[in-house]
Amino acid sequence: MKKLSIIAALAMVSLFGTSACAQKKGENMNSLNDKKTLVAYFSWSGNTEAAAKYIAQQTHADLFVIEREAAYPTDYDPCTEEAKDEKERGDRPAIKGSVNNFDQYEVVFVCVPVWWYTAPMPVYTFLENYNFEGKTVIPFCTAYSGPSSTLKDIIKATPKSDHRDGICVVTKEMGGQGMDKKQGQIDKWLKEIGY
Ligand SMILES: Cc1cc2nc3c(=O)[nH]c(=O)nc-3n(C[C@H](O)[C@H](O)[C@H](O)COP(=O)(O)O)c2cc1C
Repeated sequence: MKKLSIIAALAMVSLFGTSACAQKKGENMNSLNDKKTLVAYFSWSGNTEAAAKYIAQQTHADLFVIEREAAYPTDYDPCTEEAKDEKERGDRPAIKGSVNNFDQYEVVFVCVPVWWYTAPMPVYTFLENYNFEGKTVIPFCTAYSGPSSTLKDIIKATPKSDHRDGICVVTKEMGGQGMDKKQGQIDKWLKEIGY
Protein backbone atom coordinates (compact mmCIF):
# COMPACT_ATOMS: atom_id res chain seq x y z
CA MET A 1 0.00 0.00 0.00
CA LYS A 2 2.77 2.39 1.01
CA LYS A 3 4.64 1.47 -2.16
CA LEU A 4 1.56 2.31 -4.22
CA SER A 5 1.12 5.69 -2.57
CA ILE A 6 4.79 6.56 -3.15
CA ILE A 7 4.46 5.55 -6.79
CA ALA A 8 1.19 7.51 -7.24
CA ALA A 9 2.81 10.62 -5.76
CA LEU A 10 5.84 10.20 -7.99
CA ALA A 11 3.66 9.68 -11.06
CA MET A 12 1.91 13.00 -10.53
CA VAL A 13 5.07 15.08 -10.69
CA SER A 14 7.33 13.00 -12.90
CA LEU A 15 5.66 13.35 -16.27
CA PHE A 16 7.80 16.10 -17.75
CA GLY A 17 8.37 14.35 -21.09
CA THR A 18 10.88 11.66 -21.85
CA SER A 19 13.90 13.42 -23.25
CA ALA A 20 16.23 16.25 -22.31
CA CYS A 21 17.28 18.51 -25.13
CA ALA A 22 21.02 18.94 -25.20
CA GLN A 23 21.33 19.20 -28.97
CA LYS A 24 20.22 22.09 -31.11
CA LYS A 25 17.52 21.23 -33.64
CA GLY A 26 19.02 20.32 -37.00
CA GLU A 27 22.50 20.22 -35.49
CA ASN A 28 24.90 18.38 -37.73
CA MET A 29 26.04 15.51 -35.58
CA ASN A 30 29.35 13.73 -35.90
CA SER A 31 29.19 9.97 -35.69
CA LEU A 32 30.17 8.57 -32.29
CA ASN A 33 30.92 5.10 -33.67
CA ASP A 34 34.70 5.25 -33.45
CA LYS A 35 34.95 7.04 -30.12
CA LYS A 36 36.27 5.26 -27.05
CA THR A 37 33.16 4.90 -24.91
CA LEU A 38 32.28 4.16 -21.30
CA VAL A 39 28.83 3.22 -20.05
CA ALA A 40 28.66 4.09 -16.34
CA TYR A 41 25.52 2.92 -14.59
CA PHE A 42 23.79 2.75 -11.25
CA SER A 43 21.04 0.17 -10.75
CA TRP A 44 19.19 -1.02 -7.67
CA SER A 45 16.70 -3.58 -9.00
CA GLY A 46 18.26 -4.40 -12.39
CA ASN A 47 16.32 -2.34 -14.98
CA THR A 48 19.05 0.21 -15.61
CA GLU A 49 21.68 -2.51 -15.49
CA ALA A 50 19.94 -4.44 -18.28
CA ALA A 51 19.61 -1.29 -20.39
CA ALA A 52 23.21 -0.18 -19.72
CA LYS A 53 24.56 -3.58 -20.72
CA TYR A 54 22.56 -3.42 -23.94
CA ILE A 55 23.80 0.13 -24.69
CA ALA A 56 27.39 -0.99 -24.03
CA GLN A 57 26.95 -3.97 -26.35
CA GLN A 58 25.52 -1.80 -29.14
CA THR A 59 28.20 0.91 -28.80
CA HIS A 60 31.17 -1.41 -28.10
CA ALA A 61 31.73 0.36 -24.79
CA ASP A 62 33.35 -0.56 -21.50
CA LEU A 63 31.13 -0.76 -18.40
CA PHE A 64 31.53 0.79 -14.96
CA VAL A 65 29.09 0.16 -12.12
CA ILE A 66 28.42 3.09 -9.80
CA GLU A 67 27.79 1.48 -6.42
CA ARG A 68 27.44 3.10 -3.02
CA GLU A 69 30.08 1.78 -0.64
CA ALA A 70 27.39 0.97 1.96
CA ALA A 71 24.74 -1.14 0.21
CA TYR A 72 21.15 0.18 0.10
CA PRO A 73 18.42 -1.84 1.82
CA THR A 74 17.18 -4.64 -0.41
CA ASP A 75 13.50 -4.01 0.48
CA TYR A 76 11.68 -1.31 -1.50
CA ASP A 77 10.20 0.88 1.26
CA PRO A 78 13.35 1.13 3.41
CA CYS A 79 15.36 1.86 0.27
CA THR A 80 13.05 4.69 -0.81
CA GLU A 81 13.13 6.19 2.68
CA GLU A 82 16.93 6.10 2.88
CA ALA A 83 17.25 7.50 -0.63
CA LYS A 84 14.85 10.34 0.22
CA ASP A 85 16.80 11.32 3.35
CA GLU A 86 20.07 11.16 1.43
CA LYS A 87 18.65 13.41 -1.29
CA GLU A 88 17.23 15.92 1.19
CA ARG A 89 20.63 16.17 2.88
CA GLY A 90 22.37 16.50 -0.50
CA ASP A 91 24.76 13.69 0.46
CA ARG A 92 27.62 12.59 -1.74
CA PRO A 93 28.08 9.05 -0.41
CA ALA A 94 31.34 7.20 -1.02
CA ILE A 95 31.28 4.87 -4.02
CA LYS A 96 33.11 1.61 -4.66
CA GLY A 97 36.09 1.21 -6.98
CA SER A 98 37.31 3.55 -9.70
CA VAL A 99 37.36 3.77 -13.47
CA ASN A 100 40.55 2.45 -14.96
CA ASN A 101 42.25 5.20 -17.02
CA PHE A 102 39.22 7.49 -17.23
CA ASP A 103 41.14 9.90 -19.51
CA GLN A 104 40.97 7.44 -22.40
CA TYR A 105 37.19 7.87 -22.79
CA GLU A 106 35.76 10.38 -25.27
CA VAL A 107 32.11 9.48 -24.70
CA VAL A 108 30.48 8.59 -21.37
CA PHE A 109 26.90 7.33 -21.05
CA VAL A 110 25.53 7.97 -17.56
CA CYS A 111 22.68 5.50 -16.98
CA VAL A 112 20.58 5.81 -13.85
CA PRO A 113 17.16 5.02 -12.38
CA VAL A 114 15.09 8.06 -11.38
CA TRP A 115 15.13 8.32 -7.59
CA TRP A 116 12.95 11.01 -6.10
CA TYR A 117 12.81 12.94 -9.40
CA THR A 118 16.57 12.94 -9.99
CA ALA A 119 19.56 10.60 -10.10
CA PRO A 120 20.58 8.65 -6.97
CA MET A 121 23.10 10.61 -4.89
CA PRO A 122 26.05 8.21 -5.57
CA VAL A 123 25.74 9.22 -9.24
CA TYR A 124 26.58 12.82 -8.27
CA THR A 125 29.56 11.51 -6.29
CA PHE A 126 30.69 9.83 -9.51
CA LEU A 127 30.09 12.92 -11.66
CA GLU A 128 31.98 15.13 -9.20
CA ASN A 129 34.90 12.71 -8.72
CA TYR A 130 36.00 12.69 -12.35
CA ASN A 131 36.94 15.37 -14.86
CA PHE A 132 34.42 15.30 -17.72
CA GLU A 133 35.82 18.36 -19.49
CA GLY A 134 35.95 17.85 -23.26
CA LYS A 135 34.06 14.55 -23.17
CA THR A 136 30.64 13.88 -24.65
CA VAL A 137 28.23 12.95 -21.86
CA ILE A 138 24.97 11.18 -22.72
CA PRO A 139 22.34 10.82 -19.99
CA PHE A 140 19.94 7.88 -19.84
CA CYS A 141 17.39 6.89 -17.23
CA THR A 142 14.75 4.33 -16.41
CA ALA A 143 11.71 5.27 -14.35
CA TYR A 144 8.30 4.18 -13.18
CA SER A 145 6.59 7.28 -14.55
CA GLY A 146 9.05 9.74 -16.10
CA PRO A 147 12.43 11.47 -15.90
CA SER A 148 11.46 14.59 -13.92
CA SER A 149 14.72 16.58 -13.92
CA THR A 150 17.06 13.58 -14.04
CA LEU A 151 18.41 13.95 -17.58
CA LYS A 152 18.83 17.71 -17.19
CA ASP A 153 20.51 17.27 -13.79
CA ILE A 154 23.17 15.00 -15.31
CA ILE A 155 23.80 17.62 -17.99
CA LYS A 156 23.98 20.34 -15.33
CA ALA A 157 26.48 18.30 -13.31
CA THR A 158 28.84 18.05 -16.31
CA PRO A 159 28.99 21.70 -17.47
CA LYS A 160 32.30 21.41 -19.30
CA SER A 161 31.15 18.52 -21.51
CA ASP A 162 29.37 18.25 -24.82
CA HIS A 163 26.06 16.42 -24.62
CA ARG A 164 23.75 14.38 -26.79
CA ASP A 165 20.04 14.06 -26.05
CA GLY A 166 19.16 11.47 -23.43
CA ILE A 167 16.04 9.35 -23.10
CA CYS A 168 13.98 7.93 -20.29
CA VAL A 169 12.74 4.36 -20.60
CA VAL A 170 9.54 4.06 -18.61
CA THR A 171 8.68 0.66 -17.18
CA LYS A 172 6.32 -0.61 -14.50
CA GLU A 173 8.43 -3.74 -14.08
CA MET A 174 11.44 -4.23 -11.83
CA GLY A 175 14.42 -6.56 -11.65
CA GLY A 176 15.30 -6.02 -15.30
CA GLN A 177 12.25 -7.97 -16.47
CA GLY A 178 10.89 -6.68 -19.69
CA MET A 179 13.86 -4.51 -20.56
CA ASP A 180 14.40 -6.61 -23.68
CA LYS A 181 11.08 -5.17 -24.93
CA LYS A 182 12.67 -1.72 -24.74
CA GLN A 183 15.58 -2.51 -27.06
CA GLY A 184 13.75 -1.06 -30.09
CA GLN A 185 13.36 2.27 -28.27
CA ILE A 186 17.05 2.23 -27.35
CA ASP A 187 18.11 1.32 -30.92
CA LYS A 188 16.07 4.21 -32.35
CA TRP A 189 17.59 6.67 -29.87
CA LEU A 190 21.17 5.50 -30.48
CA LYS A 191 20.63 6.06 -34.19
CA GLU A 192 19.30 9.57 -33.54
CA ILE A 193 22.30 10.59 -31.43
CA GLY A 194 24.99 9.45 -33.83
CA TYR A 195 25.38 5.67 -33.86
C1 LIG B 1 14.33 4.99 -4.08
C2 LIG B 1 13.47 5.01 -5.30
C3 LIG B 1 12.93 6.19 -5.75
C4 LIG B 1 12.20 6.24 -6.94
N1 LIG B 1 11.76 7.45 -7.42
C5 LIG B 1 11.12 7.51 -8.61
C6 LIG B 1 10.70 8.77 -9.16
O1 LIG B 1 10.90 9.84 -8.58
N2 LIG B 1 10.06 8.76 -10.38
C7 LIG B 1 9.83 7.59 -11.07
O2 LIG B 1 9.26 7.65 -12.17
N3 LIG B 1 10.24 6.39 -10.58
C8 LIG B 1 10.88 6.33 -9.39
N4 LIG B 1 11.32 5.11 -8.91
C9 LIG B 1 11.18 3.91 -9.75
C10 LIG B 1 12.50 3.59 -10.49
O3 LIG B 1 13.04 4.74 -11.13
C11 LIG B 1 12.29 2.53 -11.59
O4 LIG B 1 11.66 1.40 -11.04
C12 LIG B 1 13.62 2.16 -12.23
O5 LIG B 1 13.40 1.54 -13.49
C13 LIG B 1 14.44 1.23 -11.37
O6 LIG B 1 15.69 1.05 -11.95
P1 LIG B 1 16.70 -0.07 -11.42
O7 LIG B 1 16.00 -1.39 -11.60
O8 LIG B 1 17.89 0.07 -12.30
O9 LIG B 1 17.00 0.20 -9.99
C14 LIG B 1 11.99 5.05 -7.69
C15 LIG B 1 12.49 3.83 -7.19
C16 LIG B 1 13.22 3.80 -6.02
C17 LIG B 1 13.77 2.49 -5.51
